[in-house]
Amino acid sequence: MIRSVVRGIGSSLPKRVVSNRELETLVETSDDWIVQRTGIRQRYIAGEGETSASLGAEAAKAALAMAGLSPDDIDMIICATSTPDNTFPSTAVNIQNRLGMSHGFAFDMQAVCSGFVYALTTADLYIRGGQARRILVIGAETFSRLLDWKDRTTCVLFGDGAGALVLEAEEGDGTAQDRGILASCLRSDGAHKDKLYVDGGVSTTGTIGHLRMEGREVFKHAVGMITDVVEQCFADTGMSADDLDWLVPHQANLRIIDGAAKKLSIPMDKVVVTVDQHGNTSAASIPLALSAAVADGRIKKGDIVMVDAMGGGFTWGAVLLRW
Ligand code: UT7
Repeated sequence: MIRSVVRGIGSSLPKRVVSNRELETLVETSDDWIVQRTGIRQRYIAGEGETSASLGAEAAKAALAMAGLSPDDIDMIICATSTPDNTFPSTAVNIQNRLGMSHGFAFDMQAVCSGFVYALTTADLYIRGGQARRILVIGAETFSRLLDWKDRTTCVLFGDGAGALVLEAEEGDGTAQDRGILASCLRSDGAHKDKLYVDGGVSTTGTIGHLRMEGREVFKHAVGMITDVVEQCFADTGMSADDLDWLVPHQANLRIIDGAAKKLSIPMDKVVVTVDQHGNTSAASIPLALSAAVADGRIKKGDIVMVDAMGGGFTWGAVLLRW
């Protein structure tokens, strides 16, 4: 059986760090409130010339370098983003061009904060279907450009950045001992589409719009949705929380991460947390967190890793893999 194995990972963050204290000068908020309610201490905000494609391309180059591969070796690029450089063409083809690559094919995936989990699952199916051998899976976002900087209920929560990984086909024996993606589970329910959305768009207002969120409503659904898909991945592989080396959740709010880990009986010392450093970077948050945990030596070859996300749509999902 063909498995999709991670060969390399990389990330890229904007130069500018914005602390909670700095936001106190913009809206009526406090470092205390932000830390207590969300766990966020700082976020990176894109400056001039820093875009989803530029950050995504830098992350992709770092992932290729770790894999010891060049763009020539890549068959396909998927970029998960809700903040594309242009309405079209896709951010993925922009990144393809920045990598100096004119073969293969590239497209964007739009599932907001769950985008990276959707992209990873899609890439795995392309590999297992024999359509591609090596795929760059990227999450790249510049949410700062969608925010209403007068709305304290949203502007303190998000940040910019990108992460990327290289997946490669490898023969496995079809058991949970294989390296690579072992299970994945995607869900969505458009009944919740007005709880976290952008109040503009090409086909409606003709404007970009601003992010709007009923935070409490999102919070209410998050833990249940996350634990549901994580448990499905465990059931599909015959594994349990005890088998897990690392849980790498979407980084939206420390209280959501904590609540889901408790419900799943996963101790917090097995959970990778970067929300304090990055804020919520939507589709970029999981590859940024994976990249940090690989760089500092926590995630090692052979480790069992679960990634999960929930966000606008609602969309939610999880992927279980052996690193
Ligand atoms: O990426 C996936 C999608 N996003 C999420 O997962 C986010 C999910 N939601 C959340 O993380 C939380 O709901 C928030 C962090 C957004 C808010 O936390 P909360 O504990 O649900 O607070 P709340 O919305 O119930 O607001 C509590 C109070 C309100 O004041 P009153 O009505 O109690 O007087 C807000 O007006 O906090 C006030 N407030 C703030 N105060 C200081 C809201 N934003 C701020 C702020 N600074 N930035």
